[in-house]
Amino acid sequence: MSGGDLWSRIAAVAGALALVSCDLPGRPGPEPEVLRPEQVLDFATLYSQNCAGCHGEEGRGGAAVSLADPVYLAYADDAAVRRVTANGVAHTLMPAFARSAGGMLTDKQIDVLVRGIRAWAGGSAPGGLKPPAYTAAGPGDAARGAAAYQTFCARCHGPDGKGGSGGHSIVDGSFLALISDQGLRTAVVTGVPGLDAPDWRNDVPGRPMTEEEVTDVVAWLASQRTQFPGRPYPSLQPKNQGGTQ
Ligand code: HEC
Ligand code: HEC
Repeated sequence: MSGGDLWSRIAAVAGALALVSCDLPGRPGPEPEVLRPEQVLDFATLYSQNCAGCHGEEGRGGAAVSLADPVYLAYADDAAVRRVTANGVAHTLMPAFARSAGGMLTDKQIDVLVRGIRAWAGGSAPGGLKPPAYTAAGPGDAARGAAAYQTFCARCHGPDGKGGSGGHSIVDGSFLALISDQGLRTAVVTGVPGLDAPDWRNDVPGRPMTEEEVTDVVAWLASQRTQFPGRPYPSLQPKNQGGTQ
């Protein structure tokens, strides 16, 4: 290596050290220009840093629930949005954000998120029918749900839920393992905006699902969860399970 190279590298290292030393604790400096993470109280920033990757920019078009969908906002109240944002949803990809639940956000920041998401509704509820309740009144009946499935869903998701001309499989073990019952209920009530998945009013045009039909169809889907999702050949895979090491 040439001497010039060496000196330029030493200069670079010295420069980096000089930068670091400015940040040494206890050294008085100018007012900090960068907010500490807990000082960020701007909705757009909090949302894009923490949520947009899954729920989409502006609450639409992501892989997870469209939070800005007016149907979603008429169905989920602030308490529900806050609870899920704070505590996450166990066994799914939805993380807990509240510090009290091991996340990184303060209660104040969660307030900002809940208010910002609510503001997407633009202060108005969609006209027409009131959506089914956010929380199911009871566990639902899977057998009745199978019948409701035939009426409302089979034309798109196929006769047994394994996929059809209008939608993919919704009984796949890996899919069901990563979505909660509440998540299934949300999917049935809101559909998937922008993807031709109708909300609860339009699976059969002119024949909205009743509250019981929504609850029962979710019970039918949930009854198909398997113990070992993603393993089509359980008998071939006992080796690493429950072994002592
Ligand atoms: C008009 C066709 C159509 C009907 C009717 C329909 N769906 Fe779907 N559904 C879709 C499409 C399209 C998607 C999204 C992409 C895909 O599945 O290919 C979807 C997605 C879903 C998802 C996945 C949502 C997610 O978060 O990934 C679930 C669960 C679901 N539908 C359940 C149902 C149930 C239950 C019914 C009946 C009550 C139903 N769908 C009726 C077309 C339909
Ligand atoms: C890594 C992906 C991911 C990130 C990041 C994420 N979410 Fe979620 N979120 C999900 C998934 C997946 C679900 C559905 C969970 C289930 O099955 O119930 C969900 C569900 C929710 C729900 C409940 C939807 C319902 O059914 O009522 C809310 C509210 C929510 N998220 C808000 C947020 C907010 C606010 C943020 C950012 C602070 C955020 N999420 C970040 C993946 C994510």
